[in-house]
Amino acid sequence: MKMITRRQFAKRMAGAAAAVAAFGGVQAEAVQKKKAGANERLGVALIGSGGRGRSLLDDFMRTGQVDIVAIADVDDEMLEKGLNKVESVQGKRPTGYRDFRKILDRKDVDAVIVATPDHWHALPTIYACQAGKDVYVEKPLAKTIQEGRAMVNAARRYNRIVQVGTQQRSAEHFRKAVEYVQSGKLGKIRMVRAWAYLDWKGGLGNPPDGTPPATVDYDFWLGPAPKRPFNPARFHFTFRWFWDYSGGLMTDWGAHMVDIAMWAMGEDPLGAMAIGGKYGYPDDIMETPDTQQSIIEFPSFSLLWEHMIGCGIGPWQREHGVEFHGVNGILVVDRGGWEVYAETDKIDRPDRIYKMMPVPRQSGSSDYSYTHVQNFVDAVKSRQKPVADVEIGHKSVIACHLANIAVRLRRYVRWDPIKEEVVGDPEAQRLVIAEYRKPWELPKI
Ligand SMILES: NC(=O)c1ccc[n+]([C@@H]2O[C@H](COP(=O)([O-])OP(=O)(O)OC[C@H]3O[C@@H](n4cnc5c(N)ncnc54)[C@H](O)[C@@H]3O)[C@@H](O)[C@H]2O)c1
Repeated sequence: MKMITRRQFAKRMAGAAAAVAAFGGVQAEAVQKKKAGANERLGVALIGSGGRGRSLLDDFMRTGQVDIVAIADVDDEMLEKGLNKVESVQGKRPTGYRDFRKILDRKDVDAVIVATPDHWHALPTIYACQAGKDVYVEKPLAKTIQEGRAMVNAARRYNRIVQVGTQQRSAEHFRKAVEYVQSGKLGKIRMVRAWAYLDWKGGLGNPPDGTPPATVDYDFWLGPAPKRPFNPARFHFTFRWFWDYSGGLMTDWGAHMVDIAMWAMGEDPLGAMAIGGKYGYPDDIMETPDTQQSIIEFPSFSLLWEHMIGCGIGPWQREHGVEFHGVNGILVVDRGGWEVYAETDKIDRPDRIYKMMPVPRQSGSSDYSYTHVQNFVDAVKSRQKPVADVEIGHKSVIACHLANIAVRLRRYVRWDPIKEEVVGDPEAQRLVIAEYRKPWELPKI
């Protein structure tokens, strides 16, 4: 038996105690709750009161079927904004917390919304499942594939409803476009293209490290991410462009558009290659590529992903979208609508023969962020799976994570979709695994 010194033993025990403390009052086993009646109001709490979190508060309150009873944020300023918003609509001020674990101890909370940065999606979701709460968690499901799998396992083990914030799944026009693709009318689909060309704030410059605002518990904001000095660029909203917290535009918008490709095609990825870099902002502090092309391999087709930050026009003159290219025709869909172009037998000739009838532009649905939230509320009451169940969100973002691993390592990454691990590349496999800063640990479920 391996001997350990008294000092090593004491250190290990301190680590274990910290991990237990981190777990707070969260119960280890799920509380099995009775099925809520159709007219019963749900107690809902928000974790992460930033831009997206506060927008979701509007959608949840609009259902007229929930009471927002608590909000947690590690930044008092963001927390205050969320509390004020709810009070102005609901008339009753929720309780505010810095530590989201206190929310999970509350008996009046049926469901939580997780709208924290990506590196903080997994733990609140898993702890909430363990505490018997249902979860609406924002996309991309997780920062790493391993976390995503743990979240799926937690939802299943504790019998929880977990909806991912990919609201296109609740949009009627995306559903109709997917049904058209699945009808077979486009013929054999050999290539799918998905893209996001977002004219967003890209250039962050190079601000120096500094001290966090007095309103923020910065160590808690970092949580399981590596410890480092505060930098204003690596914080609210623009955390997306840093590997410690997110996966750049590949996961941020890939979670939306690649998800549509996965929905229509129903296959799991087998590998990915990618090229990209900071071509637009070479001296910028951001880390993730501002320009990237990824090719993701599926059993019967290839998926081409493109993104640019700071440019707003992509393929088909659309800033974002998905193109399904079949041998008979091409379907293009984005948030604004969808249409079908006919392929021809004879190209560039006046007597060209179309293989099918084109479909003119079908307009896009509106308000589907709200419909998606309503779908979650309905699922919590009926205990039926929601339209963007956690496993759907997990599988869709695997393709995006693989492309990011490929772009970081500059090589093809082969994937085993059954074992959910990289084949024959330990360095790439390390990027599948979640490395957490102590005392935070990803529960083994
Ligand atoms: N579905 C969509 O269309 C959509 C749109 C925008 C953002 N999002 C997603 O929502 C998430 C949040 O994005 P955002 O733009 O609102 O970011 P943000 O930086 O504006 O907000 C995140 C908030 O979480 C808080 N936070 C950080 N750690 C916390 C912790 N441990 N406990 C409680 N609060 C904590 C931050 O202080 C901040 O207020 C991201 O995952 C993003 O991808 C989804």
